[in-house]
Amino acid sequence: MTDRSYRFTHAITRRPAASITHGLRAVDTGAPDLARMQAHHDAYIATLRETGATVIELDALEPYPDSVFVEDTALCLPSGAVIMRPGAPSRLGEAAEMAPHLAALYGDLRRISGAESFIEGGDILMTETEILVGRSARTNAAGIAELAALTADWGEVVREVHTPPGVLHFKTDCSLLDAETILSTPRLSASGCFKGYRLIDVAEGEEAAANTIRFNDLVLMPAGFPRTRDAILAAGFTVREIGNSECAKLDGGMSCLSLRFTPKA
Ligand code: GLY
Repeated sequence: MTDRSYRFTHAITRRPAASITHGLRAVDTGAPDLARMQAHHDAYIATLRETGATVIELDALEPYPDSVFVEDTALCLPSGAVIMRPGAPSRLGEAAEMAPHLAALYGDLRRISGAESFIEGGDILMTETEILVGRSARTNAAGIAELAALTADWGEVVREVHTPPGVLHFKTDCSLLDAETILSTPRLSASGCFKGYRLIDVAEGEEAAANTIRFNDLVLMPAGFPRTRDAILAAGFTVREIGNSECAKLDGGMSCLSLRFTPKA
């Protein structure tokens, strides 16, 4: 059994910009508290490092309010990395900002470049055997088709699925816990897109717990969802709860805050 989808030597994060108060959100639930967000971010990075990984912390990018959510800018695979083309116009430039950092770590860096192609990393779930990409308001069929074409010679199999209506990203509603196990909201798992995987549904009313990350030996999950935490613990995983109250105001979660990968020169 391989473990490419959850064992990594590196992660990249970016410090939250003060401009995040202008970040995108589906519903305005109030301004994020920057000091609290930074404290949560520090705890997140410390937890990634606890697994032995190297974490590269990039400087804040004030012109891009949502730039703390680095996951949307790229997809890092065992053979190479692909720079995304975010569907949110205010986030398009974030991808170009990430490119030089990945170029320094990967010998093969490719780019989604079609004028009509849009795809964000938050819509992509890499498993051991396939790459699931959810069509959403940010990711379209052309973006998915271009990703499939760009990664075919790396042996990657891309499968188009659907992000539930009204949900920002595919991974807002699901996470990979190990090679066989996916944590999901019932509304997404009911679509049947995870056939063949072992499923753990988040507890009713705890849908915001679905965005976790498995990073080496740990599962990082947002604090405040005890029934889902207990279900993950009962399945045998080691859990770390990280405060996410401020990023949640911007529809962000555990996966959004990092790119997780093993570089390939
Ligand atoms: N605020 C995160 C996003 O909408 O992309």
